[in-house]
This record gives sequence, C-alpha cells and structure tokens, in this order.
Amino acid sequence: MSIDITNVTRTYHLPDKNVHAIRHVDLHIASHEFVCLLGPSGCGKSTLLKILSGLERPDEGTLEIDGTKVNGPGRERAVVFQDYALLPWRTVRENVAFPLELAHVSRKDREEKAQEYLKLVHLEKFADAYIHQLSGGMRQRVAIARALVQQPDILLMDEPFGALDAFTRMELQSELVKIWQAKRPTIVFVTHDIDEAIFLGDKVVIMTPNPGKVHSIVEIPVGKPRHRTGPDFNFYRDKVYKEFSLVNEYAVEYYI
Ligand SMILES: Nc1ncnc2c1ncn2[C@@H]1O[C@H](COP(=O)(O)OP(=O)(O)OP(=O)(O)O)[C@@H](O)[C@H]1O
Ligand SMILES: [Mg+2]
Repeated sequence: MSIDITNVTRTYHLPDKNVHAIRHVDLHIASHEFVCLLGPSGCGKSTLLKILSGLERPDEGTLEIDGTKVNGPGRERAVVFQDYALLPWRTVRENVAFPLELAHVSRKDREEKAQEYLKLVHLEKFADAYIHQLSGGMRQRVAIARALVQQPDILLMDEPFGALDAFTRMELQSELVKIWQAKRPTIVFVTHDIDEAIFLGDKVVIMTPNPGKVHSIVEIPVGKPRHRTGPDFNFYRDKVYKEFSLVNEYAVEYYI
C-alpha cells in the first residue's frame, strides 16, 4: 500500500515554548517500498512514525493510505518499537499470537500462524520460552514476528535495532531484507545510523531538526541484499554524508 503525507505539522506546546517536532512535511511512499527516515536526535522521526501509525494526530496536514484519508490506527499497519514492548508473563508463542487473539482468531489458527512467523524469524525452538530467557536480538525477532503475524501491508519500525550490538544488528538487518523480499510490505524504518539506512532503504529520507523537516531524499537503486563494503555502498554513503554536511558545517569532520 502507498502512503502520502501532505503538509503535515505537529507542534508540542510546552509551558515555556513551542517545539516544532515536524513542520510542513510532504512525503510519498510507494507500495512495497522500503523507506528509511534518517536524521539526528530530535528531528521528528518518531513523531512522523507515530502520525503514520495513527497513534498521534497532526495539527495540520493529511495522511492518506492508498489514496484514502486516515485519521487513526488501522489493521493494515503494524508497528515495531525499539523497546520490544513484549508481555513478560506470556511465552514467545503467546506474544506472537497476541494480535490474533485481539482479532478473535481461533486458538488453532493463532497457534499455526504464530508458529509460521516464529519460523520466519528462526525462533521456532523458543516458542515456549519466556521473554526474560531471550537475548536482546531474540526479543526483537519476537517483536518483528508479532508485527508480521498481522500480515500488515505497512510495517512501521522505530529504531528497532538501536539497542543491539553491531553483529546482531547486521544479522537482523539482513533478515529484515529477506522478510521484505518474501512478504513485500511497505516499510518505513526510523534510524540514525547512516550505514543501516543505506543497507536497507530504497529511499533514504534525510531529516533535520528545529523545526523537524525533510531536508532531502536520496534514492538508492541498488539490488538487495547489498554488499556493505562494495563500491555502490560507498558511493551512496558518501552521498548521504554530503547531504548532512550541507546542513551542518561540522558534519564532514564529525561523521568521517
Ligand atoms: N510528547 C511530547 N511532548 C513534548 N515534546 C515532544 C513530545 N514528543 C516529542 N517531543 C519533541 O519533539 C521533537 C521531536 O521528537 P521526536 O521524538 O519525534 O524525535 P526523534 O527524531 O525521534 O529523536 P530520537 O532520535 O532521539 O528518537 C523533540 O524536540 C522532542 O523533544
Ligand atoms: Mg525517536
């Protein structure tokens, strides 16, 4: 499904000031596209993702999904957050099946579907474990399986790998690419890691703060999975660094 964000603005009113979390943001995301929102802390990435999820309303502007205006959450969208948001008193299988339970799916179908998606994230052997028995990377796989079990057309991810070590992170990035190739959801993925954005994104949306806005968009027409040390990767890496150096004179020294 496609997403159209038109002139979206969200301001938080604090007692002493107004924070322009995002201002006049326009963005088109095509069906099946993998888009990364990239930018420094405070540039409004999470605010924009929450607006896309329907958990937050814009002050101004519109959100359209497949050309239809939406004002709240919907079954076609699922969200994965950085902190997993899993239920500790439930097993891995029960966590993954939870959205199906909310949708009144029968126990048998729930368990079958949960098993299918646990397999997809290579956790079928841990179906009966509890969350505290899992590593951070495994927890994040559970959160991804729980989002996918809803068979969303749109997957919204807010720094899902932010808390993981570099190796687990690369492994999950590769797996996410495989899942995207198999299921073809539209993905909007928030990150402040340039390499992560270049490894994953068909399009990297570069955002800047104060007020939060889209600075530019870098298209990456390179097939996936991508080679992290290949010439294509380095070409786009250089391009994205240069975009940041246009908005921050220290960025070149800072990032390189
Ligand atoms: N509920 C809120 N109340 C007041 N201000 C908020 C609220 N949520 C976000 N903000 C402010 O809006 C701005 C954008 O926040 P947001 O969380 O969208 O940034 P971000 O790009 O996701 O940052 P990070 O990379 O640190 O997660 C920040 O200045 C933040 O302090
Ligand atoms: Mg954030």
